[in-house]
Amino acid sequence: MISRFPGQPQLNGMLESMSLRPSSPVLVGRGEQLAALDAALDRACGGGAVTLLVGGEAGIGKSRLVNEFATGARAGGARVLRGGCLDLGTDGLPFAPFSAMIRELVRDLGAEQVAGLLPGRAASDLARLLPEFGEPDREADPVVARARLFEQVLTLVERLAEDAAVVLVIEDAHWADRSTRDLLAFLIGSQQALCNVLIIVTYRSDELHRSHPLRALLAELDRLGWVERMELPRLTPLHANELVACITGREPAASLADEVYRRTEGNPLFVEELLCCDGGMSAELPESLRDLLLAAARRLPEETQDLLRAASAGGQRNGDALLAAVTGHSSDDLTRALRPAVSANVLLADDGGYTFRHALIREAVYDDLLPGERTRLHTRFAEVLGADSTLVPAGRAAIEQAHHWYHAHDTTSALTSAWLAAAAAGRALAHAEQLTLLARVLELWDKVPDADERIGASHLTVLEQAACAAEAADNSERGVGFASAALQEVDAAAEPARAALLLLTRARLARHSGRESETADLRAALELVPPGTDDGARAKVLISGIKHVPEMSGAAAQDVAVEARTLARRAGDGATEAAALAELASIDSGVGDDAAALQRFDEARAIAMRAGAHGQLLHIAVNESHVLEGMGEHERAERTARAGIAQAGAYGLARTTGTFLAINVAEPLVSLGRWDEALEAIEHALELSPPTINRVALRIVGGDIALRRGDLAGATAALAAASAALGMRRYRGPHGSQYYLPLARLEAGLALAEERLSDALATIDATADQHDLLLTPRYGWPLLVVGARVCAEAARGARRDHPSRVQAEALLGRLLAIASKMDAAGPVQQAFRLTFDAEAGREPSAPAGSPLVRWDSAAAAWEKVSQPYELAMALNQAAAAAMAAGDRDGAAERLLRAAHLAEQLGVRPLRADIGALARSARIMLGEPSDEEDVPRPALGLTTREFEVLRHVAAGQSNPEIAAELFISAKTASVHVSNILAKLGVASRGEAAAAAHRLRLFEQQAPAA
Ligand SMILES: Nc1ncnc2c1ncn2[C@@H]1O[C@H](COP(=O)(O)OP(=O)(O)OP(=O)(O)O)[C@@H](O)[C@H]1O
Ligand SMILES: [Mg+2]
Repeated sequence: MISRFPGQPQLNGMLESMSLRPSSPVLVGRGEQLAALDAALDRACGGGAVTLLVGGEAGIGKSRLVNEFATGARAGGARVLRGGCLDLGTDGLPFAPFSAMIRELVRDLGAEQVAGLLPGRAASDLARLLPEFGEPDREADPVVARARLFEQVLTLVERLAEDAAVVLVIEDAHWADRSTRDLLAFLIGSQQALCNVLIIVTYRSDELHRSHPLRALLAELDRLGWVERMELPRLTPLHANELVACITGREPAASLADEVYRRTEGNPLFVEELLCCDGGMSAELPESLRDLLLAAARRLPEETQDLLRAASAGGQRNGDALLAAVTGHSSDDLTRALRPAVSANVLLADDGGYTFRHALIREAVYDDLLPGERTRLHTRFAEVLGADSTLVPAGRAAIEQAHHWYHAHDTTSALTSAWLAAAAAGRALAHAEQLTLLARVLELWDKVPDADERIGASHLTVLEQAACAAEAADNSERGVGFASAALQEVDAAAEPARAALLLLTRARLARHSGRESETADLRAALELVPPGTDDGARAKVLISGIKHVPEMSGAAAQDVAVEARTLARRAGDGATEAAALAELASIDSGVGDDAAALQRFDEARAIAMRAGAHGQLLHIAVNESHVLEGMGEHERAERTARAGIAQAGAYGLARTTGTFLAINVAEPLVSLGRWDEALEAIEHALELSPPTINRVALRIVGGDIALRRGDLAGATAALAAASAALGMRRYRGPHGSQYYLPLARLEAGLALAEERLSDALATIDATADQHDLLLTPRYGWPLLVVGARVCAEAARGARRDHPSRVQAEALLGRLLAIASKMDAAGPVQQAFRLTFDAEAGREPSAPAGSPLVRWDSAAAAWEKVSQPYELAMALNQAAAAAMAAGDRDGAAERLLRAAHLAEQLGVRPLRADIGALARSARIMLGEPSDEEDVPRPALGLTTREFEVLRHVAAGQSNPEIAAELFISAKTASVHVSNILAKLGVASRGEAAAAAHRLRLFEQQAPAA
């Protein structure tokens, strides 16, 4: 039996609390399950019988979940009685969990009071569970004695439940002795007689081998209508990542997060066990964990254990033909010999192979191999695969062979096979694998004489390929190392274009890893390919230079892009030509000629499409959606970015470019006030474990929404996560501004909401010190607006906080100076500028002008670009200005509109502001009737649910809906459940029928 503390499980709780293993202060990723437990308790309190059987593998968090629920239930007034079964083998203590429960009860109430709950001398029956109740009655017939005991326990629970809800928790039922199982079956079977009682039973599902006695009981209980099963799944990558962050107190680096997930597969106990005190990851399995993992395997027959050891060298999954060939068994023999491992849940059998139930079980078995045994097994795997590559899925043989030769320590075979495998991995777009293999070629290079002849490529070529693979695999740190090594080897005089392209590669990698060397590299590259030498290489260098070399950007950018375009066309390089066009488009948009920009994007797309330049197509999607958003064309921006995400997925770039584009989906949705959809897009992207920098931007957008909604805790968490991740990087120039300025805006906005004015002022001041806001008006204006708002607030609270007032006056002067020089291209930036003017105009030191006129123009500008939140904010200010000017009707009209918008958006803080102003101005907002004006989809569905229903009615599955709406399948399934509940139907089919019957989709769907 797998046991963390063999023989002493009753000490579990104590040992756990004493253990030095770090654990998470918060429960991660179990919202759904907690809600289900809460709902079960509600049903039980409402008079229904409910039993929940909570299963899951060891360490998955059954106890933690139930404890967390129990704490909440206790706080809500329920009485929770808990008892655990003990791992004492078959002859365990009978009724152990019930004894523990009653002991707890006696401790709370005293034996007398407990006895008083039972009729007559019935309490003496409890003496069989607890000596405190004296001597048990000498009942001659043991059958009758047992029946009486069961009755008394039931009566006791029933009486307790008269005062308050009772939650009975029986933990670790896989260890239950026969008597405990019988009493449990009796209580659950009689539950319909009880009111106000919830029974929760936990058990390790991985321990339930085929003949385990609990299996029969569970099957029997399943037949009762009030018994539900809940199988706790492993944590998703996103939640595992969050768990690491909670345990270590900081956002883990992407590489650590990936590694943790790869090894633990989302089992929280394993995450805790593998994390070291310093927040890193232990390479070794801790002894306690190894014992837990190996316990089941060690009980298997010797022959089975031999096979398991062989399989552990084969990997997480072994096809049976391969394993048979390696071990010299016939397929039938193998099935027979491995059956015990399958019954004991060490391996899972599927069609044609065996998988270790958990990656760490394989690791533990493998770690137990002797070195000679490992070498022998890997050699055998490599030879067998060399003889028959069909033993593994197509395309995998080379890669697997390379792995086995390496671990068999056969350097020459390891080198040549790694080179072949790297090519195969590259073809399969498995760039991370390709990178590992190329690095291995380089590692073995010196140990193999004539390596270049054996693989037919030079050391320099391998380095170049490794740098490119690192870039594709988003591993810029290593890529920089490879590119630098290659630059040492390349002969720039003989091959200037090759050297220039290597410099270009290193510059890109350096940028992604937040280094500063890129500009120097780009300049050096440009010198290597002067006009008239290598058109293709020069065009590529020019394109990179536009964004990252000062003398090639700004006013020079147009000429540089035109030259790049001409050269690329001449060199027949469609991808670079398209890139040049996209640059020209962005330049057009920068000077306000959006129509020309959009035309150029169309042209660029056509060229990229013809050239099959997938990366470039995505680049265009990114830039075009960005431009559209700046134009206030939010819906088109969102559509363009979504289409880009779909393309990114098709090219295998869902995690990188796809999640970058998710930012461009979320931003327009935020502008449009469709925040739930924005959050769905963000959540979906975060689930893909995006590169740090994308995660930063996504978290910031999420934080903005939280802040607007008044969820300050959520905004704080988002801010902390984003700044921790960003703190490790040092981005410069416009590239950095797109992260730092929004981050500063969130930080200052949060400080403002929490009335920490000095902090808010300091944030804005520091940001203006460190960044040239004029470089990126797109991100500069929103920051100026918050800055002006903070200054206005500080000026108002003046007397109490004199230092802030002085600071605010100085800062406002500074912001006004910046604003006077800052461009405002496109309607959105113009709306920001008008808002800034209005906000800054509230200060007496600002130029004169009617505040009402200013705020009205700001509001009109926001209305034009369909940004309801900013519009509502401006209307609220306009109303205040109208009031101040004595125009009460004007104020009321504006305030009503603001209130209506705030209501639709569900923004508490703004609603509160509006309400306060209304009350102080004695303006009636007419609250109840407001609701009716809001266009809402029929049947109480939210706009999103309405949209999902449309797809359900069209017969689409959850994954299909998820793909269409860019949400996760889980989210889609939650929407569908809500829809079914709201429509009062039991199935998707019925929901579709209802939608058709009601002709829901015959007219236009209601507006959001
Ligand atoms: N969702 C979670 N968030 C944070 N920590 C968790 C979560 N789930 C489990 N843990 C932690 O992981 C460890 C193992 O969890 P727990 O003891 O609840 O597992 P279990 O399923 O009850 O295991 P066993 O079968 O051994 O009883 C504990 O330290 C627990 O605090
Ligand atoms: Mg437990």
